[in-house]
Amino acid sequence: MQKYTNTAESQYIAPKGLEPISIMIVCTTVAALQQHLQQQQITRSKTGFVPTMGALHQGHLALIEQSLSLELFTICSIFVNPTQFNNPDDFAKYPITIANDIRLLESVGCHLLFLPSVQEMYPQGTQATRHYELGFLETVFEGSHRPGHFQGVCQVVHRLLNIVPCGKMLLGQKDYQQCMVLTQLVKTIPIATEIIIAPTVREADGLAMSSRNMRLNPEQRQQATAIYKAMQFIKSKLQPGDTTTLASNAAQQLLDAGFTSIDYVSLAHAHTLEPITDWDGSTPLVVLVAAFLGEVRLIDNYVI
Ligand code: PAF
Repeated sequence: MQKYTNTAESQYIAPKGLEPISIMIVCTTVAALQQHLQQQQITRSKTGFVPTMGALHQGHLALIEQSLSLELFTICSIFVNPTQFNNPDDFAKYPITIANDIRLLESVGCHLLFLPSVQEMYPQGTQATRHYELGFLETVFEGSHRPGHFQGVCQVVHRLLNIVPCGKMLLGQKDYQQCMVLTQLVKTIPIATEIIIAPTVREADGLAMSSRNMRLNPEQRQQATAIYKAMQFIKSKLQPGDTTTLASNAAQQLLDAGFTSIDYVSLAHAHTLEPITDWDGSTPLVVLVAAFLGEVRLIDNYVI
């Protein structure tokens, strides 16, 4: 993996009319976090954890709210993990909105924010010390289009789970393959954490909420709605038999709407991610999309 730097400016956008309803603890070191949990006698089984890379939106807040509704002491982490970016430019331009994130987390009542530095997360350096066996999952879709990405995701989440003792970790279904990878990860590491996957939160026009949406200009933001429309098109036209024409027609719709390139528009087995080009009419399916609007790569999925 290359060495990357994120030079994005921290930008504060005060949400209108939003007042903090609670004071949140912010810990930037592992020692401070663990000391707080110990002092307050907060045990693993009473803790819900939402790992994020910041630039928070309603999708993240829904995870925090779900954890709170389970009456868990709720910890959010914000760490833009350098080791999971296969594209240095994507890392450099990843939005950083810490002041706004803190305000949003306080507005929903998050209990604690873990906000570590790269040095705190990787005191021995970012070089991987372990290879995670992800098998087939690493060979398809995000695995094949973003080499090394899931190794970086596993590296950071494994480290986070060692730092944050949590009975439950909450993830968004928007990152469908990541949810499968992390479900596999927790089965292979000696850490007792249950994964809860929450549905994708969408804008009124269907666009899946994503931190990367902040990088779209107004025209691209409009064009981005074509992803949801293309997935709905597939759902409405799906018939048993060959599905390749349907998928390529949906991909063409994205290009017609202004997408600059397509990584994939595919159907896959919803439980294994085995690509499906000839549907038997009963296998559970997920539509997976990854496409570029200029420099911004968007992903989405829809379970049928
Ligand atoms: O989905 C994300 O934001 C990241 O991949 C995660 C899980 C926080 C790991 O860095």
